[in-house]
Amino acid sequence: MISQTSQNFDEGSSRALSNATKNAIAYCEKNAKVPVKVTFRKLMFEVEHKFSEEERVYRKDAGFPDVPSVRKQLLKECSGYAMPGQTLYIMGASGAGKTTLLNAISDRIGVGKG
Ligand SMILES: Nc1ncnc2c1ncn2[C@@H]1O[C@H](COP(=O)(O)OP(=O)(O)OP(=O)(O)O)[C@@H](O)[C@H]1O
Ligand SMILES: [Mg+2]
Repeated sequence: MISQTSQNFDEGSSRALSNATKNAIAYCEKNAKVPVKVTFRKLMFEVEHKFSEEERVYRKDAGFPDVPSVRKQLLKECSGYAMPGQTLYIMGASGAGKTTLLNAISDRIGVGKG
């Protein structure tokens, strides 16, 4: 997964932005009272994936060991930062963990057992 910060918006780069994005930026510039830098360092997240009956049959047929669940490491030591007033691009193939990363740094996933 690759993350990259861009430069501040200027005349040249803002020309390519949609009106919706321009409106969102204007809203943030007007309403953000305290600029905040968000940093995350060596972020880890893993879940216990429980196989459905269908998955277990499929796995058995394919020669995999018949286990009820498997541990999945979704985020492996992800580090990065987002600067105020700049756009951060998070890029990666489908399933790379972009949404999981955003959920983790915005406190949208609970910490639990398993
Ligand atoms: N709660 C969960 N339990 C088990 N697997 C999960 C869970 N949440 C996400 N995954 C798996 O983690 C991987 C990363 O998912 P995620 O949705 O973060 O990817 P993404 O980069 O946002 O993909 P897309 O570009 O398709 O939106 C996927 O293989 C997904 O199936
Ligand atoms: Mg996603």
